[in-house]
Amino acid sequence: MTEEIVKSALSKVTYPGFTKDIVTFGFVKEIKIDGSDVNVVVDITSSAPEVAHQITVEATEELQRAGAANIVINIQAPKMPRESSSKGKNIAPQVKNFIMVSSGKGGVGKSTTSVNLAVALAMQGKKVGLLDADIYGPNIPRMLGIDGIKPEVVGNKVLPIKAYGLEVMSMGSLMEEGQSLIWRGAMIMKAIEQFLRDILWSDLDCLVIDMPPGTGDAQLTLAQSVPVTVGVTVTTPQMVSLDDSRRSLDMFKKLNIPIAGVVENMSGFIAPDTGVEYDIFGKGTSEAMATQFDTTILAEIPIEPAIRTGGDEGKPVTYCLPTSETAKRYMKAAEALWATIEKINAEGGVDNQAIQPNTPPGVSACSTAAAPAPKATSGESCGTGCGCH
Ligand SMILES: Nc1ncnc2c1ncn2[C@@H]1O[C@H](COP(=O)(O)OP(=O)(O)O)[C@@H](O)[C@H]1O
Ligand SMILES: [Mg+2]
Repeated sequence: MTEEIVKSALSKVTYPGFTKDIVTFGFVKEIKIDGSDVNVVVDITSSAPEVAHQITVEATEELQRAGAANIVINIQAPKMPRESSSKGKNIAPQVKNFIMVSSGKGGVGKSTTSVNLAVALAMQGKKVGLLDADIYGPNIPRMLGIDGIKPEVVGNKVLPIKAYGLEVMSMGSLMEEGQSLIWRGAMIMKAIEQFLRDILWSDLDCLVIDMPPGTGDAQLTLAQSVPVTVGVTVTTPQMVSLDDSRRSLDMFKKLNIPIAGVVENMSGFIAPDTGVEYDIFGKGTSEAMATQFDTTILAEIPIEPAIRTGGDEGKPVTYCLPTSETAKRYMKAAEALWATIEKINAEGGVDNQAIQPNTPPGVSACSTAAAPAPKATSGESCGTGCGCH
């Protein structure tokens, strides 16, 4: 037996749920060989017992086939993620934690951030769902290479689509390509509820939710329907983006959503040929805003052509270019994000009771201060043009 033979045998063992093997992922930490006896340490990121079991069985089989005799596979796995301790209304109770990714503006990289954080969390062993709640601009299917794939319908529910170890759902997967939606607020609210209630999400450690830009009906409905564990705000470094991001952070505060941090995206550009760094939109300008809202910068992500091509081609950089600086930054951000979630749960979790609508059932909660009292008959507008009914 040689280390090469052992490595080549282990490279036939794919990591459950992914297409890459445990050697490529860098999970094989130690190989000890004594004649034909082989002792291997595999350090995995998943705490699910079935993942450890499957790797043990397959690695043993492959090593036997390669001629090893006494085989010991020592799997090192992190402890089980903490259960959610959140309270209040939850119409998707099988999901333990909800991560709301928001921004003040469109085009700042919210979907890119949602995709890469979700992929990073899945690579770190969490069971992750990704909900594209940007009803008007659903880009997630393209970014994950599942555009054109229609989900399976089971009774009156819909199965999420699987991609890169994630469960995914998007309005883009339910509509014909290129069609537009022209909806009023009340319909957006209904769609958000259905995304949570009528999609067959499994028992997820977390659901990452890519929100539409701004602070509107979708955000309010989400926060009222499930206890959102943390909010993440994505901004670019320019002042005009920061102005709007402050509104997004203020919304988290008003909705009692703990803020996990700010992702400063398009933060500088490192020229791939020379390595020289250029501040195209500025860099590091989000720090003061984060401090103002008592939070931190989760990551500074530079402008990198691979991020854009990865998005267009459905190849998320965190998964497809794991050695890139950007991928490492997303992985670090996901670790910090998870640490915040664990801390929040350890301290009692979140509660959305205080933000429940106090309007009668069937009438939307209109946040317009001057709004007249909603009419008792459901189906009638409150008259302010806020979009309810
Ligand atoms: N750091 C980055 N470097 C290069 N391109 C990026 C970066 N972040 C986002 N992009 C690209 O910019 C465009 C807008 O990003 P997107 O995530 O769709 O923004 P949003 O969801 O906020 O509207 C996409 O084409 C995306 O691939
Ligand atoms: Mg988007």
